[in-house]
Amino acid sequence: MSAALRVNGRTESVAAEPGDTLLRVLRDRLGLAGAKEACGRGECGACTVLIDGEPVMACVTLAAAVTGHVETIEGLAAEALPLREAFADKGGFQCGFCTPGQIVRAVALRRAHAAPDETMVRLAMAGNVCRCTGYTQIVDAVVAGLRR
Ligand code: FES
Ligand code: FES
Repeated sequence: MSAALRVNGRTESVAAEPGDTLLRVLRDRLGLAGAKEACGRGECGACTVLIDGEPVMACVTLAAAVTGHVETIEGLAAEALPLREAFADKGGFQCGFCTPGQIVRAVALRRAHAAPDETMVRLAMAGNVCRCTGYTQIVDAVVAGLRR
């Protein structure tokens, strides 16, 4: 079967099996490899993308069920520039595997709140797991990035 997906402002027609996840379609069919597969079961946030502005775990979302506009880290690159710079400045990543998901989640937070405080950042980012950094640097980076 084929599915029509609106991704990063473009409508894409992709081959997809009924059981294909959005993450598989993005990475394997559309070459958008920014969203990562880590746990593969909706627990870590490495695969976070936005659908109609809401963060979702693409590893547990069926591609065939998606009707909204999907935004990936690739499509958010310009909007996320202050966050990307803040992650670099604050040491918000080491291996970087979780970072695209962290930044996508932070973009959603910024759209919802003009100037979220640290508590709001910690709550919003709670579903995004990092095995490397400890979370202080990530929170510092998001707080700083959202103020730039
Ligand atoms: S890879 Fe999707 S939530 Fe962990
Ligand atoms: S920087 Fe390695 S998992 Fe977060």
